[in-house]
Amino acid sequence: MGSPSSVTVGSGCEWLETTVLRPCKLRDTRGAIPGRLDLTRARDVRRSRMSGMYTALVVAHSLLRWVVLGLAVVALVRAVSGWSGGRPWTGGDEQVNRFFVIAFDLQVLIGLILYVGLSPMTQAAFQDFGAAMGNSVLRFWAVEHIFGMLAAVALVHIGRVRARRAVEPAARHRTTAIFFGLALLITLLTIPWPFMPAARPLFPSF
Ligand code: HEM
Repeated sequence: MGSPSSVTVGSGCEWLETTVLRPCKLRDTRGAIPGRLDLTRARDVRRSRMSGMYTALVVAHSLLRWVVLGLAVVALVRAVSGWSGGRPWTGGDEQVNRFFVIAFDLQVLIGLILYVGLSPMTQAAFQDFGAAMGNSVLRFWAVEHIFGMLAAVALVHIGRVRARRAVEPAARHRTTAIFFGLALLITLLTIPWPFMPAARPLFPSF
């Protein structure tokens, strides 16, 4: 990154872009005192940046779901057909499984960023966790979605490691089919489909 660019917050008050909570360097024409923090403005800037990031990540998270599900189905079909048909383990199986794991991990990473810092749903739940457990929508976002997805990603990784360790192609296909199949089932059950209380659209609207 080059030198930090500056952004003007309000008239005559310059802030460094890298940290909006730096003291105001210039005298604000409306009376800000140099060296004092203008927290209200700083918070406004921070909030609007955070909400831009939130929107971008939710859209990415929503779309990436289809990539994850698509790769899961392809990997599962290959594993089941390889297992039942006695097909050898191929480079194609390896590649599809690798892309599936990468896509799933990326989806989990985005989800965790949303969960910890950006989602208004989880922030609302964290304010009173006990009360949130009595609300089906907040409970879904605070507990069900994250634990379902963490269980699913754990199954995906265990399945991948075990399949690699298996010597026989049939054992590789069988292990992949069982672990990826369970992971797909849990994922499907904990996605916020439009018919659920925590309903979300199938595709984000721009
Ligand atoms: C540990 C893993 C995950 C965590 C912590 C997580 C967390 C979240 C959070 C916080 C939201 C946004 C709630 C809001 O503010 O509106 C969200 C939305 C969503 N998540 Fe996840 N997620 C995870 C994994 C996944 C996976 C693996 C999938 C699907 C393959 C998925 C599918 C979705 C969908 C479809 C939405 C709704 C997006 C929209 O608003 O259109 N999530 N997730």
